[in-house]
Amino acid sequence: MSFTSVRAGRIEAASKYCSSVFRVIDMFPVVVVHGGAGHIPKERSEKSMSGLCSAARAGYVILRGGGSSMDAVVEVVRQLENNPSFNAGCGSVLNAKGEVEMDAIVMDGKALGSGAVSGVCNIANPIQLARLVMNKTSHVCLTSEGANQFARSMGVPEVPPESLITEYSRMRWTKNLAVDADPVECQMGKMGTVGAVAVDSEGNVACATSTGGMLNKMEGRVGDTPCIGSGGYADNLVGAVSTTGHGEAIMKVTLARLILFHMEQGQSVEAASDLGLAYMKSRVGGLGGVVTVDPRGHWAARFSSHQMAWAAAQKDTVHYGLYSGENFTQSIDDPL
Ligand code: GLY
Repeated sequence: MSFTSVRAGRIEAASKYCSSVFRVIDMFPVVVVHGGAGHIPKERSEKSMSGLCSAARAGYVILRGGGSSMDAVVEVVRQLENNPSFNAGCGSVLNAKGEVEMDAIVMDGKALGSGAVSGVCNIANPIQLARLVMNKTSHVCLTSEGANQFARSMGVPEVPPESLITEYSRMRWTKNLAVDADPVECQMGKMGTVGAVAVDSEGNVACATSTGGMLNKMEGRVGDTPCIGSGGYADNLVGAVSTTGHGEAIMKVTLARLILFHMEQGQSVEAASDLGLAYMKSRVGGLGGVVTVDPRGHWAARFSSHQMAWAAAQKDTVHYGLYSGENFTQSIDDPL
């Protein structure tokens, strides 16, 4: 699903990491978004797809206006956290106690800056708090009450935890308590983690991922999303990845960093994503999905699960799909 790049004609001095003195950057800004790997019920798939396409458009407009990849991915994920169709922010799945505990990460490929939060329950947009952790602290991840204290010190408003719980997430929680539910099934079903990767006009890459985690998870369970290298990774020298799927499996293979390792070995965004996902499936039996970019604007949306809702925007075109092999398109100028 990657594009053959077209020469944009921008010439840039090579960094110390490049062998030639000057190189031509054949690159178009791009944002790629996912709405979780798993199975999306038919009655919810249309809302998920339109939410993803509209978030991808918003991210693309930022990039087209010269905005940074970090601004684009945070805005995309903020919009998806506010959309109750997804397992992030409002609409997050509930833990065993029936409460929301959310995780989020951002990473900036320029200097490997990263910020994350875990176990937050009363912040509407954990992705913005993760960005503040990156920008305003010397740490990479803050958790639970410490994350809340930091949010207060930054003037981030707290919201009642109940305002993040939807009728649908309450219904699913009740249903999964009634049956002896398989936790992996719980995670892979119905709604998903959200995430985005982007490349801006300067060739900077970034990622952002946000989730309510796994339905019926134990209190205090930390998943892959806030763990650097698992829920996401961004490095201007290689590319950026945002992941979704069974968190414990993703953490065991550090999926995002594994994919970038394959890219460092010369694999394309598509092949590297497939290799990482195949390794996770064969080694620990985990299913999931990823969105991946390299600094030249090649991109991929790949998954080993039944479905993954995704959208990408580049060259004034929005691409989107849900099942393997799908790649529908619409113009950025088409009405939503
Ligand atoms: N991939 C999201 C989670 O397992 O928490």
